[in-house]
Amino acid sequence: MAKSHNLPTNREVRLCMAMSLDGKITAEGDLFPNFTSRFDRHKLFSLRSWADALIVGAGTVRGENLPPLIRDPALVEQRRKNGQSDHPPVFILSNSGNLPWDQGYFHQTETKVHVVSPAERDPQTPDSVTWVQTTRTENLPQTLTRIQDLGHRHFLVEGGSRLAYAFVQQNCIDRLYLTLAPHFLGGKSNPTLLSGPALQASLWVLEQSETHQSELHLVYRHATAD
Ligand SMILES: NC(=O)c1ccc[n+]([C@@H]2O[C@H](COP(=O)([O-])OP(=O)(O)OC[C@H]3O[C@@H](n4cnc5c(N)ncnc54)[C@H](OP(=O)(O)O)[C@@H]3O)[C@@H](O)[C@H]2O)c1
Repeated sequence: MAKSHNLPTNREVRLCMAMSLDGKITAEGDLFPNFTSRFDRHKLFSLRSWADALIVGAGTVRGENLPPLIRDPALVEQRRKNGQSDHPPVFILSNSGNLPWDQGYFHQTETKVHVVSPAERDPQTPDSVTWVQTTRTENLPQTLTRIQDLGHRHFLVEGGSRLAYAFVQQNCIDRLYLTLAPHFLGGKSNPTLLSGPALQASLWVLEQSETHQSELHLVYRHATAD
């Protein structure tokens, strides 16, 4: 299988994000609590079903409080038949190790939650949460290898904006699953797809495009994955 140069050959890392026509990935207030279609939600569940580990930024967990489940019984059943857990485990990347432990996210039993952090385990961390200790100097390829060594090789990165930036900047994404939703969201402080300093231009090759009503679904492969 084709791989980008920062990744070993036996794993694949996918990034799945949705953005508005003005490139925003979230809406202010309750105006568009969920700005994509049911079709898009199902695409997300399918990608989660493909994955054996989900990766998410601490900012998203703090902001959304939504455990990443596969809300489609047929996909869950298929995973069971494959000998997999109903829902893939989630790895929350956090430099601070500071997470809202009271949130329901950390007290559900459907998804195994790991925190990947260079910080010491917070004494408030619920017992059910596994702490994966990293180092301050570790980069994302090294962190991916660390998670891969726990037995995972199909990774789905679910954002948000700063974590997605870091994965792209460090050449860790093989495929981007992008939804372009037919809305403008505006909002000066709303993040766009990637938040971070300027990037070196690198080529992404369009592999698939599909429209669902007025929503556009694109799959791009990183060109260095040839
Ligand atoms: N439309 C979509 O597809 C989509 C998907 C996901 C999220 N979102 C939205 O995105 C927003 C959150 O995005 P965000 O940029 O604020 O936060 P984020 O990217 O979810 O998380 C950033 C945090 O991740 C941790 N982190 C660990 N290693 C990192 C690294 N190498 N690079 C960057 N971060 C690292 C840090 O946590 P510590 O602060 O703990 O050190 C950092 O503050 C929310 O509004 C959410 O709703 C949208």
